[in-house]
Amino acid sequence: MTNNEFNVHFMEYSVSQKTTLHTDYMNHDRPSCRTSEKVAISSDLYRKALAAFASSVIVASTTDRHGEAQGFTATAFSAVSLAPPIVQFCLTNSATCYDAFASADSYAISVLGPDQESMAQRFATRGADKFANGAGLVKRGGLWVVKGAQAVLICRSYGKLVCGDHTIFLGEVIDAEAMEAPDLMIYFRKKYLSKRTSDFS
Ligand SMILES: Cc1cc2nc3c(=O)[nH]c(=O)nc-3n(C[C@H](O)[C@H](O)[C@H](O)COP(=O)(O)O)c2cc1C
Repeated sequence: MTNNEFNVHFMEYSVSQKTTLHTDYMNHDRPSCRTSEKVAISSDLYRKALAAFASSVIVASTTDRHGEAQGFTATAFSAVSLAPPIVQFCLTNSATCYDAFASADSYAISVLGPDQESMAQRFATRGADKFANGAGLVKRGGLWVVKGAQAVLICRSYGKLVCGDHTIFLGEVIDAEAMEAPDLMIYFRKKYLSKRTSDFS
């Protein structure tokens, strides 16, 4: 599927009876979607409902045009396609690292495990020295990833779609590594929860 075909797929994507996403297919460089009617839901209620959705936590990392490493913490991440292998994450349009991801050819996803809450906080802090001389990080495919992550996905940029105040970034997975242990860290109701292999037995 080409990036332009991706635009057309989103034209048909309906999110509710009241709201339909339309693709701005005139602008192939920066495809976007918009809501056709104002959605009558309070921001507080929306956030509260989303907080009930438990998710893994990832760190997305890339390199900007100047060769500087950039990255951020996200829970808005999921698999999209198995063949070809495509994943997606959503990044706020106002992020400092936005331009780096928007112009990147490749990026890495590190799925955080137990005891990596501080890494999540570090990459969620604007202005922090996130890469701090590579502390707690290791290079994979030329990109910094989190050392000891539960899984790492190296992605080639596949397309993006501006959607409201965020942008959906699609990445084709070209390499991956995964830990065997079913240790996990999830984010639920604004708290980090960790489970280790021994907790399951
Ligand atoms: C647990 C957690 C999950 C987050 N998920 C997202 C997300 O999915 N998308 C996003 O844009 N920001 C998310 N954030 C906020 C960003 O990590 C944070 O705003 C980051 O500093 C943005 O990058 P910047 O420093 O380059 O501006 C999350 C923060 C936390 C603590």
